[in-house]
Amino acid sequence: MDKKLRQLESLRSQRWLAPDDMRSFAHRQRLQQMGLRREEFMARPGIAIVNTWSDLSPCHSHLRERAEAVKRGILQAGGLPFELPAMSLGEVMVKPTTMLYRNFLAMEVEELLRSLPIDGAVLLGGCDKTTPGLLMGALSADLPCIFVPAGPMLNDRYRGVPVGAGTHTKLFWDEYQAGNLPQTEWIALEARMTRTPGTCNTMGTASTMTSIAEAMGFVLPGASSIPAMDSAHTRMASASGARIVEMVWEDLRPSTFFDAHAVDNGIVAYMALGGSTNAAIHLIAIAGRGGVSLTLDDLARKGDGIPVLANLFPSGDRLMEDFYYAGGLPALLLQVRDLLHLDCGTVNGLTLGENLQHARCMDAETVRSRDNPAAQGGALAVLHGNLAPSGAVIKPSAASEKFLKHAGPALVFDSMAEMNTRIHDEALDVTEDTVLVLRNGGPLGAPGMPEWGNLPIPRKLLAAGVRDMVRLSDARMSGTHYGTCVLHIAPEAAAGGPLALIRTGDIVELDVAAGRLDMRVSEAELARRRAEWQPGVQRAKRGYTRIFLDHVTQAHEGCDFDFLMGREAPVEPTIF
Ligand code: FES
Repeated sequence: MDKKLRQLESLRSQRWLAPDDMRSFAHRQRLQQMGLRREEFMARPGIAIVNTWSDLSPCHSHLRERAEAVKRGILQAGGLPFELPAMSLGEVMVKPTTMLYRNFLAMEVEELLRSLPIDGAVLLGGCDKTTPGLLMGALSADLPCIFVPAGPMLNDRYRGVPVGAGTHTKLFWDEYQAGNLPQTEWIALEARMTRTPGTCNTMGTASTMTSIAEAMGFVLPGASSIPAMDSAHTRMASASGARIVEMVWEDLRPSTFFDAHAVDNGIVAYMALGGSTNAAIHLIAIAGRGGVSLTLDDLARKGDGIPVLANLFPSGDRLMEDFYYAGGLPALLLQVRDLLHLDCGTVNGLTLGENLQHARCMDAETVRSRDNPAAQGGALAVLHGNLAPSGAVIKPSAASEKFLKHAGPALVFDSMAEMNTRIHDEALDVTEDTVLVLRNGGPLGAPGMPEWGNLPIPRKLLAAGVRDMVRLSDARMSGTHYGTCVLHIAPEAAAGGPLALIRTGDIVELDVAAGRLDMRVSEAELARRRAEWQPGVQRAKRGYTRIFLDHVTQAHEGCDFDFLMGREAPVEPTIF
């Protein structure tokens, strides 16, 4: 028997298709029902194209076309493509939050790959939760897989100034609230900033996660920085399709290259990018699916001292299109080459170090060197204290330096609804030094941990010129936003964390350099308040939300489901 035939017979898909029994007869019969010739599916690896395209996923509106390019690459390399639609998680469309459904997508990907005659997978996504959801599922399925990032949208200009999604929406909203932007301009802005398909073009969660995916080896070199509407993006999609077929023959599964060193490379990229705080949660969850234990303190320790080198909003003043012209992620990784594990494998079969041999920085203003960082303060600081025993995070590079050490009285809101009702009340007792606190915005409390953590500045303070305050919550914040926002406080209030006990008027002490977040309240008083505390989580009676509330873990644990964490050998369905 020649080597090719032996390889063919070892394909997972052939365990569905090859046996001479009635079930396999039906598999073959139904593929022929779709117009496939026997020679096509009996001689080629079956490749899934897991596509998160939908009509309500604006950042992915080009992924249907890209799937065609991926198919072209698969066919030319001798594979057989099967496009499989997966959960639609268009970040700005989904209520209450896509975070409620990240684990849903991960489960769907794992089960799609498990249950079908698939030998390898191309994962199409990029809008915030889609990258971690796709990678978590693929890691658990452990079939050869390659990730095709959706790519950032193109820059826009408004009144001569470059503008992008997310960060500028927030900037313009604050000016509109302060009375500095007429309503006609505000409405006109709806048609600006997001002028092409693609993910948010600031260093928000989407670009953070696709870049981390590349640094960890799941993406062809440079692919995460290619704008969605560049013809290079289509070529990259086709190349990814061709490459996955080779990966199947090489049996290049995630478990062969994804390890603690790959996670370290993701952390280095995260910090140098000035990435989104959301990545802290997603990285812990992704690492866990790959059998790598990662804590918030590991993140803080491994990221310590790595400056922000990508001069991109919200830490800097440029956009992803500029980053691409500057050489993209490979140019950035070049600046921190000595901190990377260069021997880590990647999907193209070469090591990270070998891939970086072709990297070049072409714009030293956009991709900075370590002696000329883009922002003061790092991408992530981890805080502990009597308000956050299991940890909290803040992004110093997107905060106001004057607030990084601050003490002020708390103004506490029990819910988003209460905050929305009261925050702009002219009679509200609030100054720039007040610490705004929102609780019940965590995984259980909201539920789903929405991006509520960028609490609005009271309108009367906006009108007086205030643009930042210290804000605390157990919620998340959009990676495109900025401000002195302490996020992901764990345990969350709804789980009985100390955030549930703070009261308006208590003094909050934030000291980012010391890694502390405390309330000046005695242990005896906290014990008294705890005795009075009543859990307020609504238990869902049915549906996915019930599974979520019963099994989601806290922010410092990655918010994965307790029954999906860790690496286990994938179980193939019994075939009969
Ligand atoms: Fe999709 Fe920002 S809304 S990436």
